[in-house]
Amino acid sequence: MVLPVILSGGAGTRLWPLSRELYPKQLLPLAGDKTMLQETISRLDGIEDVDAPLIVCNDAHRFMVAEQVRQLGLEAQAIILEPCGRNTAPAVAIAALHAQKGDADPILLVLPADHLIQDVSAFHQAVQIGVEQAEQGNLVTFGIVPTLPETGYGYIRAEQGGKRSAYPVAEFVEKPDLETAERYLQSGDYYWNSGMFMFRASRYLEELERYQPEMLSVCQSSFAGMQTDLDFQRLDETVFSTCPADSIDYAVMEKTDQAVVIPLAAGWNDIGAWSALWDVQPHDEDGNVIIGDVLTADAGNCYLHASHRLIAAVGVKDLVVVETADAVMVAKRDQVQNVKAIVEQLKQQK
Ligand code: GDD
Ligand code: MG
Repeated sequence: MVLPVILSGGAGTRLWPLSRELYPKQLLPLAGDKTMLQETISRLDGIEDVDAPLIVCNDAHRFMVAEQVRQLGLEAQAIILEPCGRNTAPAVAIAALHAQKGDADPILLVLPADHLIQDVSAFHQAVQIGVEQAEQGNLVTFGIVPTLPETGYGYIRAEQGGKRSAYPVAEFVEKPDLETAERYLQSGDYYWNSGMFMFRASRYLEELERYQPEMLSVCQSSFAGMQTDLDFQRLDETVFSTCPADSIDYAVMEKTDQAVVIPLAAGWNDIGAWSALWDVQPHDEDGNVIIGDVLTADAGNCYLHASHRLIAAVGVKDLVVVETADAVMVAKRDQVQNVKAIVEQLKQQK
């Protein structure tokens, strides 16, 4: 049995002003009619022997998450609520503990709630290979051929050895600096880590015990004290807040010697910033992506997103303009990563 574990705890600050703390990007319909969370769940349809998803999210988002699942006409396996974010390694640990109810030891398919995958059948094929690998006790990652020296991703060097559907990981480097990322890109030997993983629940917990025993022990106590509240499972704040915070990448994947990588060519995009939405959405004849009420005259290669008011763009090129009820963001398309600097300033003003 494959148990999808959907991680929906991030804030998505680089997609401000649409993505907010109380309304993060995974809960928004950014690249279609469905929200990113709904797309993630819908994409599971067609995977062999797949269970209903287990969702781990922040307490503050519980009603939105539940409502979005309900709109799909589905029921989640469980919605586990974190009182505070402790990053992905503890979130996956809690999911693994929950998955082990009774004698069960399913294969977890860990998925971020905010990625776009264009070729769903290629994704399903990769998951099928992942099942075989996870059954052998391996910890599976999915590798994307890199196109940029992106420093926001993990990099994976696969062990050489002919063309195979899965390779042992020779090296996993989470978020290298720019110089290192450039070297990796040029070498052609590295994949990007897609942030999706597969392993048996027990194998993840074993590796966590080996590399992060304190984290595992806090997660076990938190799990033991988990309370049911309506349709939700809530972790106790006093215990869970003492958990060391770390990502699955640093805590486990960089360290384990049983990682394998499955190459994935499925039109994957992690929609990290507004420029990614310009990349993946249909363009008009001038190269603009237009959402909502927008008029243009001689504007080119812009991403123009109106929510409440008309945007009129005249004679501008390569801009991102995102209009919401209380904020308008204007940026050069190749500098939208810096939106997070604005979010920092806003936090300080609070
Ligand atoms: N439940 C829960 N709790 N989910 C969380 C938490 C948390 O505390 N923190 C993050 N998440 C969710 C996010 O919502 C996202 O769906 C996923 O976990 C991954 O977290 P990110 O914060 O987006 O990670 P990242 O983008 O910096 O890096 C990861 O993804 C890259 C690809 O997009 C790493 O796995 C990289 O190696 C990878 O390249
Ligand atoms: Mg991410």
